[in-house]
Amino acid sequence: MKTLTNKRIVLGVSGSIAAYKAPDVVRRLQDLGAEVRAILTQGGAKFITELSLQATSKNKVHNNLWDNEAELSMGHIELAKWADAILIAPASANTIANLSAGKACDLLTNVVLATDAPVLIAPAMNQQMYASSAVKDNLSVLLARNIKLISPEFGEQACGDVGEGRLTEPSKIAKQVSEVFSSTKLTGKKILITLGATIEPIDPVRYLSNHSSGKMGMALARASIEAGAKVTLIYGNVSIPLSEESTNILVGSGEEMHQAVMENIKDQDVFIACAAVSDYRVKNIEKNKIKKENTELTLELIPNKDILVDVCKLKQKPICIGFAAETQNLIENAQNKLKNKGCDAIILNDVSKRDFGFKNDENEVVFLTKKYSQKIEKNSKQIIGRKIIEIIVEKFL
Ligand code: PMT
Repeated sequence: MKTLTNKRIVLGVSGSIAAYKAPDVVRRLQDLGAEVRAILTQGGAKFITELSLQATSKNKVHNNLWDNEAELSMGHIELAKWADAILIAPASANTIANLSAGKACDLLTNVVLATDAPVLIAPAMNQQMYASSAVKDNLSVLLARNIKLISPEFGEQACGDVGEGRLTEPSKIAKQVSEVFSSTKLTGKKILITLGATIEPIDPVRYLSNHSSGKMGMALARASIEAGAKVTLIYGNVSIPLSEESTNILVGSGEEMHQAVMENIKDQDVFIACAAVSDYRVKNIEKNKIKKENTELTLELIPNKDILVDVCKLKQKPICIGFAAETQNLIENAQNKLKNKGCDAIILNDVSKRDFGFKNDENEVVFLTKKYSQKIEKNSKQIIGRKIIEIIVEKFL
């Protein structure tokens, strides 16, 4: 059986000179067994005719949100439901910006908003435009929403420039679409991830906590789900929505997180400790709100159990990956944590920086094992998450 047999693909063609390759994209998808329906945007129609997409897809081309006839047969909601995947190739800077802003300004953007199918975009534009921070920012918004990027290729462009911005070859695009449906390297694997900040109560009103938003943990969760894993999230205080495709267990304090992890760790293949767990908790939590006095107040703190250490000590332990949130002597401190906690790898991040680390959409990390060290340069947490999962698969599974 071909990899796209019985799969229904909506191909969005937007305004780029590379739109002339769209009929070839249709053919390569069909070669893999897909049925294709094309949506041609106004911009796309400046570069390619409806007829050539109709002739290759053997289906009527959709191009107008306000077409009464189309609404009677297959309107935007039906198209969104019909699709097993939506591919936008080429995706222009304008279409990327509209998607990133969540606009519903034409048929294609409406269909993307109305679908629950995977969405892939293959950008094609001038290399300087592709390198612009506006396009990069828009792309990281889309990646964070789980839209898959088929990165453009490097080479000579229609305008004469040389750089990254050429539409990826149609056969490679079709292959990447098929990979959305193929079982991946983590199929059948179970991954438990802790994320977010623990909350250590002082009294019914106040608590000790930290700046973790849960973004790094969620990026790891998404990357694991994309790779086919069954994911359990044990989460503290987070400021982002969690995946609906994982089992999600809410906890408050470090003690609660410890208990939830221990109850769910059996049969897990990988444990990733991304939560920022408080090392200490208040010894005597006041039942009532502590009244303000004009004297010094001393809180007595006692250590929390170390979740990562206790998982690493289990007889049948999963692959254990810790994080090291450091502000000084980065590598040395991370290596000490790797040794002292007994984990298989530690991911070092510098949390003293304002532009990545805690709360930010970006991070920069070093993946460390006893024998191996790889820096992953500053990028969106989504991309860093994917890279980390790739390394875990490559090194340990
Ligand atoms: O959530 P974000 O805003 O996206 O930020 C991401 C992050 C900076 C929180 C994340 O990348 C990160 O570094 N997480 C670990 C934070 C931390 O607690 O680091 P640590 O160096 O203090 O602890 C080392 C490891 O031991 C961590 O894996 C931690 O989860 C684990 N630990 C710590 C204490 C404890 N009692 N139990 C633990 O399991």
